[in-house]
Amino acid sequence: MSSDRTSPGTMTAAAGTGLELDDIQRGVLHQRPSPYVGTYLLLRIGNRDAGRKLVRRLYPVIESAQTSSDPAQNASIAVGFTYQGLKALGVPQDSLDSFAPEFRQGMAARAAELGDTGDSSPQNWEKPLGRPEVHVAVSVLAPDAAQLEDLAARARRAHDELPGVEVIWRQDCYQLPTGRTSFGFKDGIGQPAVEGSAIPGTNPDEPPIKAGEFILGYPDETGSVGPMPAPEVLGRNGTYLVFRKLHTRVAAYRQYLRAKAASREEEALLGAKMVGRWQSGAPLALCPEQDDPGLGADPGRNNHFGYGDDLRGFKCPAGAHARRANPRNALDHEMSVNVRLHRMLRRGTSYGPMLPDGILEDDGEDRGIIFVFVGAYPKRQFEFVKTQWLNDGIFIGAPAEKDPLAGANDGTGTFTIPQRPIRRRLQSLPPFVITRGGEYCFAPGLRALRWLADPDTGTAD
Ligand code: HEM
Repeated sequence: MSSDRTSPGTMTAAAGTGLELDDIQRGVLHQRPSPYVGTYLLLRIGNRDAGRKLVRRLYPVIESAQTSSDPAQNASIAVGFTYQGLKALGVPQDSLDSFAPEFRQGMAARAAELGDTGDSSPQNWEKPLGRPEVHVAVSVLAPDAAQLEDLAARARRAHDELPGVEVIWRQDCYQLPTGRTSFGFKDGIGQPAVEGSAIPGTNPDEPPIKAGEFILGYPDETGSVGPMPAPEVLGRNGTYLVFRKLHTRVAAYRQYLRAKAASREEEALLGAKMVGRWQSGAPLALCPEQDDPGLGADPGRNNHFGYGDDLRGFKCPAGAHARRANPRNALDHEMSVNVRLHRMLRRGTSYGPMLPDGILEDDGEDRGIIFVFVGAYPKRQFEFVKTQWLNDGIFIGAPAEKDPLAGANDGTGTFTIPQRPIRRRLQSLPPFVITRGGEYCFAPGLRALRWLADPDTGTAD
């Protein structure tokens, strides 16, 4: 545990890059164990002193990114604060004002921009998501239930019997051994490599992304260090987290495919065209005709591809979810778009029971994904991808089309599948994903966590 961690102020830099791994929360940089079980907690800080005490108690249980990078060992607790949470801790106003504007506004205020309307609009969100009483987000993740209980007990000791701090939401989550989430697709495959993190990337065609894209205080892809919350001790080695509880309408999705396809094989193909990968994780770019489970399961090959030889989308439609979310080299000809400025680390998780295979009727269960984004620029990374690439089709020359799976569809949308001799167009796309709520958080570095325990002194020690 962190009791033997390097003391703050004597941070060591990762060889050659200056990335201070021992000051960055482990859950931010490291992949999660696979499979895993976990719990998300949201806490409300009733008074400043109790809040600071909570931070003081959390500090020793948050591990740094310098510890083992073996995903099997990756049990971890991570913590983030909303803008309202930082306020509740008594962070001075000039410091609060130095955070990214969208973080200051909070996710509910960004709803119209993000396409969270109708059933997904904040007035329909699960309580207390999106409300000002959400102050602290804690995630506890472990490879199995026994380790989770051990970690959860440590987290509980931080907030239990602390009058003035209240757990206001709890969401259990898990990742299946297959890595598949509720629509049946293996998820979490496409991730960027972070320069200096010593965590290997999975796409040899994509050089590691500059650390400043994901961790505050380092040069980013533009060559400079971006804006960082002040004072430096608070901002440095922190990052922004976006979490969203996304309900997936699995029965509606299966019924839609059944209605559009003439056979089970065609159902699988249409599903793959919508995602950009087969359910096994095998990318259409590498096996466009039929699934290749061996390829899907091979981390050395399943993310080694681009779209440069398929600009018209005959293998993988330009409108497929994964291609929209990361067009890779398909946009190289668009001089104004630098895909590297819109990358993100994803730490998604399943919640709720899976709908058994073959069932087409809705069983009324709440199931889906806790989507988690990690990045230094919530606006040009998460919000850009969500608004410009998933909810809009201008960049692929189909302005009226939204992401067929995760886009804000309303029953009128279409999805084009290029094929010869004539393209296929799926009509009347219903919404398959409903936003249940979420929040923007700031995940401080470890030294910043100590500072937050007593912002008045202006020092971390
Ligand atoms: C319930 C909603 C969603 C589902 C079911 C979903 C599912 C998937 C699946 C199956 C993949 C392919 C496997 C992989 O590469 O990891 C994927 C990739 C990805 N998704 Fe999502 N996703 C959802 C929402 C989102 C949202 C809201 C965003 C961003 C705003 C997003 C961003 C990405 C990115 C960046 C990739 C990787 C693309 C690549 O590098 O090739 N996803 N998603």
